[in-house]
Amino acid sequence: MTDPRRILVTSALPYANGPLHLGHMLEQVQTDIWVRFQRSRGNECYYICADDAHGTAIMLTAEKLGITPEEQIDRVRLEHAADSASFGISFDNFYSTHSDETRHWSETIYRRARDKGYIAAREITQAYDPEKGLFLADRFIKGTCPNCKTPDQYGDNCEACGATYAPADLIDPVSALSGATPVERESRHLFFRLPAFADMLREWIASGTLQESVANKLREWTDSELQEWDISRDAPYFGFEIPDEENKYFYVWLDAPIGYIGSFEHFCKREGVSFDDYWQPGGDTELYHFIGKDIINFHGLFWPAMLHAAELRTPTAVYAHGFLTVNGTKMSKSRGTFINARHYLDHLDAEYLRYYFAAKLSGGVDDIDLNLEDFVQRVNSDVVGKVVNIASRCSGFLRKGFDNRLAESCSEPELLTAFQSAGDAITDAYESREFGRAIRLIMELADKANQYIDHHKPWVMAKDPAQAATVRDVCSTGINCFRQLMIYLQPVLPAMAERASAYLRCTLNWEDRHELLTDHELATFEPLMQRVDPKVVAAMVDSNRPPETEAAPVPAPAPKSDDVAYLDFADFQKVDLRIARIEAASAVEGADKLLALTLDVGELGKRQVFSGIKAAYTPDDLVGKLTVVVANLAPRKMRFGVSEGMVLAAGEGDSGIFLLSPDEGATPGMRVT
Ligand code: MSP
Ligand code: ZN
Repeated sequence: MTDPRRILVTSALPYANGPLHLGHMLEQVQTDIWVRFQRSRGNECYYICADDAHGTAIMLTAEKLGITPEEQIDRVRLEHAADSASFGISFDNFYSTHSDETRHWSETIYRRARDKGYIAAREITQAYDPEKGLFLADRFIKGTCPNCKTPDQYGDNCEACGATYAPADLIDPVSALSGATPVERESRHLFFRLPAFADMLREWIASGTLQESVANKLREWTDSELQEWDISRDAPYFGFEIPDEENKYFYVWLDAPIGYIGSFEHFCKREGVSFDDYWQPGGDTELYHFIGKDIINFHGLFWPAMLHAAELRTPTAVYAHGFLTVNGTKMSKSRGTFINARHYLDHLDAEYLRYYFAAKLSGGVDDIDLNLEDFVQRVNSDVVGKVVNIASRCSGFLRKGFDNRLAESCSEPELLTAFQSAGDAITDAYESREFGRAIRLIMELADKANQYIDHHKPWVMAKDPAQAATVRDVCSTGINCFRQLMIYLQPVLPAMAERASAYLRCTLNWEDRHELLTDHELATFEPLMQRVDPKVVAAMVDSNRPPETEAAPVPAPAPKSDDVAYLDFADFQKVDLRIARIEAASAVEGADKLLALTLDVGELGKRQVFSGIKAAYTPDDLVGKLTVVVANLAPRKMRFGVSEGMVLAAGEGDSGIFLLSPDEGATPGMRVT
């Protein structure tokens, strides 16, 4: 026996900014299968993750929800941990980057890099939102495309014509946060001197453990000119302050991967594991990061360079996977295929999806498609139709005729030897993350076992008492085949493997496959997995679509310029427009376009108003919003009650409905003039 390997594995740290979706689960399932495989073989394998808690986006989300960023990240972390646990993800620790450990290591790594001269400082000019008091990242600036003149384009590229440009080139740029016109402002930023690590990175990339396509991508970067990396952000920012600087914070991507170290240290302190064995250079431990292909540069350039600068070990390998698509296209909210982890779990068993992902995963970076029809078919025919079927066909005869006791020897040793020796190829497939290949090999074995049972027909022999011993032999062989299959599937289907282990009354570790179960008593068989019901899959998608958009209220035709009916200013002044706060909103039974709104109009008191905006707004989202109300419209009696005013919204034809709302600072009752 060789010594067990000592392995530390991570999945990328999800942003604490929203729920986990099936794309995140693809990554965690991939990592978890590999981790469980390593543990099953007897290796020491720790699996560490955390939420990525910092950055402007999280700060803005918390602000929108009216809570502190700390409250926001605590809430989300609990949800993320629960979702992952329900998918059978076996983290040894799920922590947060907003932690003492990650702060300590961020400061330490930064100081070590700085003291060696790897940090540069210089003034840069950036767009600044004078209203919000924030520097604006590209994605927070929008305006008209300088090339094709399409309005409302974000940041540095146009969705309509594909042009790329600097945000400063946008025509009439505005801040997406406040609508204010951004101004240019100078500020001193800190940079990590990545170019100094070009040789070190080339060597690390050539070390042979990376995927070929990842290594090629990284080489493209190291062979062209590497740029210094901007690692500071000015206040206000939710993150860690940079030591010996004023009002400067680490950019979220600096401390995000350091969260791997922080979470692991937190785990080590709790479990008494030697932290240094895993992070000091020159040891014999292994470190792997599983990530999506969109974050290769952070893990393959900045991260190893930072670690090297701080005299810490670099990763053994970074394993990138492709993106999840559903039914052949990007996950889509309107099609109902942007599926959150919790939504899936509300309808279906996590192990179905673990199996399907495994069957589709390779060691490469190709995208993975979840085709929902194929999903149902695949799980039902493989797991239920092939694997579970073996056990359910054999168990009944063993229970009825033989008190659940297996035969003393196996009648077909060649069949079982084939199962055992297939283990080597399956091992290689798992080790190299070729899970699809592992599943193919396992299902070939399952087919063999079913053919063997079909050939001997125990259900026919069972009618003849003279053949009882043969029935027992065949079924005992079948059960041993099933056990071998469950050993091979245990990394993919841990919950089903646990049920199988309870039935078989034995462990299902990787090396257990070398021994057979003979003269051994089984528990009473219980169903191991239900078939996937396609109706439930359809219901999951249907209930995930946003409500059908109903026809917008038909607006009065816009007056043509040559027949404008002018309004006297005095007449206009008769209209009492006020700011109102929506206190409550609800659907109106029997009305498909209306919402009933309760408005707080300050000094004018409360108003009940019916408004034709249901197609565009969910009642809950409206509560607390400020809008504009015509306060002196004669009350109108409607079928549903009296409407005491009218809220203002923009909209023309099918273009949607947009409730008007004042800029920040307005209060209920204020006059609109
Ligand atoms: N917070 C960063 C990672 C920091 S790691 C030090 C981040 N977060 S994320 O929530 O956007 O993504 C987390 C992981 O999920 C990434 O590896 C990302 O590639 C992966 N995926 C996000 N959407 C995905 C799909 N649709 N399909 C597959 N993986 C996807 O990036
Ligand atoms: Zn354009």
